[in-house]
Amino acid sequence: MKKMVLCSALALAVALGAFGMASAEDKGPAEITLKTDAGKKPAVFPHAKHQAKQKCDTCHKSPNFPADKKWSMKVGHGLCQDCHKKEKGPMKCTDCHK
Ligand code: HEC
Ligand code: HEC
Ligand code: HEC
Repeated sequence: MKKMVLCSALALAVALGAFGMASAEDKGPAEITLKTDAGKKPAVFPHAKHQAKQKCDTCHKSPNFPADKKWSMKVGHGLCQDCHKKEKGPMKCTDCHK
């Protein structure tokens, strides 16, 4: 069972390509500034805080997750606001856009 979980975690990392050379246990940066190519409204994302409560796959396997890191308002609001609406996360513009 443990082996299976490990295998699928590895397969996921490879499939996403987002983990690059990092191991499956790499948690990534604690805080990440997300922006579009235009960079008009960067969003500050507390990654570590979310990791404490949310499963990795909820975001990293979401159809809204941009594996290519191409952010847009549609992608960002799809991923972030969909969950914030459901789970009562902060919804003011300035909660994400600092
Ligand atoms: C609430 C959503 C969310 C959760 C939960 C989440 N992540 Fe992330 N993660 C992101 C976002 C967004 C990025 C930034 C992607 C980018 O730079 O465009 C990211 C980036 C990363 C990166 C850096 C990858 C890179 O190439 O930039 C790693 C590694 C990572 N996450 C691992 C994890 C692990 C392991 C977990 C579970 C313990 C996890 N994440 C949970 C949303 C999430
Ligand atoms: C799967 C659900 C989920 C997703 C996806 C998600 N969040 Fe959240 N987020 C929450 C919840 C629930 C809270 C409020 C509870 C808490 O603070 O842990 C929160 C809190 C926050 C906070 C406030 C943290 C604080 O210090 O009070 C910010 C900022 C935030 N999210 C930004 C984002 C951004 C940006 C994204 C998209 C990259 C995102 N979130 C994706 C569930 C989510
Ligand atoms: C839960 C987090 C969250 C909230 C709340 C939120 N946004 Fe965003 N927004 C994002 C993310 C993530 C992106 C994509 C990355 C980026 O450019 O910031 C984005 C992108 C955008 C963009 C595109 C920026 C560009 O460079 O093209 C605009 C405009 C925008 N948001 C406006 C708003 C406005 C106005 C509000 C309030 C009504 C709002 N957002 C609330 C997370 C959020």
